[in-house]
Amino acid sequence: MKIFVINGSPRGTAGNTYRLTAAFLEGIRQGLSGSGEEVAVKETQTARADVRPCLGCFSCWKKTPGKCCILDDMQEVIENILWADVILWSFPLYYFTVPGGLKNLIDRQLPMVLPFMSEREGQTGNGGHPSRYDMSGKRTVVISTCGFYTAQGNYDGVKSLFDHLCGKGQYEAIFCGQGELFRVPALSQRTGEYLGYVETAGEEYVKGGIGEKTREKLSELLYSREVFEGWADASWGVDRESGEKEPKALIFTRQMAMLYRKENYPGKDLVLEMHYTDLDECYQIVLGKDGSKVLTDGSAATTTRIETPYSVWLSIAAGEIRGDEALAKRLYKVKGDFSLMMNWDAYFSGQGDQKETAGSEKQGGGNGICFGLPAKGTSWILLLGPWMVFWIAAGIDSRMGSLLSIGAAALLPLLFYAHKKTIYDMMTGTMVAGLSVAALMGVPERIVLPLSYLCFGLMWAGSCLGKSVPLTAFYSMNDYGGEDALLNPLFMKTNRILTVMWSVLYLLTPIWTYFIMGTEIGYLAGAVNSVLPMAMGVFTAWFRKWYPAKVARGD
Ligand SMILES: Cc1cc2nc3c(=O)[nH]c(=O)nc-3n(C[C@H](O)[C@H](O)[C@H](O)COP(=O)(O)O)c2cc1C
Repeated sequence: MKIFVINGSPRGTAGNTYRLTAAFLEGIRQGLSGSGEEVAVKETQTARADVRPCLGCFSCWKKTPGKCCILDDMQEVIENILWADVILWSFPLYYFTVPGGLKNLIDRQLPMVLPFMSEREGQTGNGGHPSRYDMSGKRTVVISTCGFYTAQGNYDGVKSLFDHLCGKGQYEAIFCGQGELFRVPALSQRTGEYLGYVETAGEEYVKGGIGEKTREKLSELLYSREVFEGWADASWGVDRESGEKEPKALIFTRQMAMLYRKENYPGKDLVLEMHYTDLDECYQIVLGKDGSKVLTDGSAATTTRIETPYSVWLSIAAGEIRGDEALAKRLYKVKGDFSLMMNWDAYFSGQGDQKETAGSEKQGGGNGICFGLPAKGTSWILLLGPWMVFWIAAGIDSRMGSLLSIGAAALLPLLFYAHKKTIYDMMTGTMVAGLSVAALMGVPERIVLPLSYLCFGLMWAGSCLGKSVPLTAFYSMNDYGGEDALLNPLFMKTNRILTVMWSVLYLLTPIWTYFIMGTEIGYLAGAVNSVLPMAMGVFTAWFRKWYPAKVARGD
């Protein structure tokens, strides 16, 4: 397939539009890979090409039919149009139409048509000229970005132009609003996702046509109008009232504030204070019910204060380093209420905005540790339920309790069918059923009960070995953004400490249980083994908040 790209941005290949064009070309390559068909691409950049304005002399029709009197790069452009199977027009929207340089190039196509008044098939019906060359079989793609929040309504001029040039419905078009966002590293996750759809469009284009789902995705806004316009206004870095230039860290903070998701307002205003330590500048973002605002006078009572070098926060925003990873490496500190950090993705869109899409890719347990239908997260009940039934019911009546435990081990996974299952849920089912069968077969309670605690403890301890994911992490990740949390070093460290503590408790429990059960106060074993885990549960609830906050403070 021979493709000729006519890129009409004065910014050339550094432009926003060209990113879409490059993605579309990549899609075409992917689509044709393995088909045996080669992809050859030629390009012209109007920013560099010497294509002068048409003189309106009609020499190309009268004096030298088919030849323009201006000798410049346009002859080569026409040769390439005639060479190509696909002509890809790529340009930014300028004043609701194509940029001037590209308009010159379009005008200079006059030698390609004959002077007679006769319309080609598929043209608009308002008059036209027949082509001088056989253009049948050539296809046209139009790709453009614009600066307003939407492409809708802004491309009427462009559509009209290409309807006349190619015929209505005779070309493929991708028009995208919010084009300037493609050059912002901090938003690369969202724009990258969009570019992914452009690539898919390229692939589908050569395989028969762009699919409906891809078209829908391409017509979605990158961000809501409110977020985009606020963000765009802030990006000029000029104070609205004074017109004065603002410091770069303030511009950055304003842009960050625009990504606030007010739909997740927690019921009271939060004040995030950004202290850029290397610049010694401090700004506050008030996260309110109706939106965010940036304060430069430090007048609000701070909820959470981030002390960071500007460059570090810039890298985090650009997605070069994960925020939680940078925190674990102590590249910045967090003082005050740490819960804002824990819920960062709920409060701010941006790199974390595409959770749903990213999550859906991970459906089915991307890391291979979770199994089953992924509609809901993991559940503590699946892990603890069968053990609880065994310890309580079998403690009261060994036979009935054992039968109940087997029932619980078999039924709970069915009742919780929509939850992800972990390997520990499965081990639990097997172990509880096995211990219950042992009890039913007459193995004494003084053996079975301590053995059950040992099995439970070994399961916890095993999850702490080597680089494996500590057991508590599988269940508490539901409160911290799902499986993404497993990439958070601080989250993992907190859970590793907790899992080790629980392992120690349950590896010691069988020892005292065995001895207590051999004494006259054997009936107290159950009470001891209920109180200690309860105390440990309270400690866990406190520790999982306290420890990350302590690390974040830099203590
Ligand atoms: C002179 C000029 C005129 C523009 N006119 C419009 C316009 O009418 N509508 C619009 O949405 N954006 C307009 N824009 C914004 C560009 O279309 C937008 O920034 C585009 O993404 C730039 O793409 P590029 O980097 O590929 O050149 C204009 C930009 C310039 C410089």
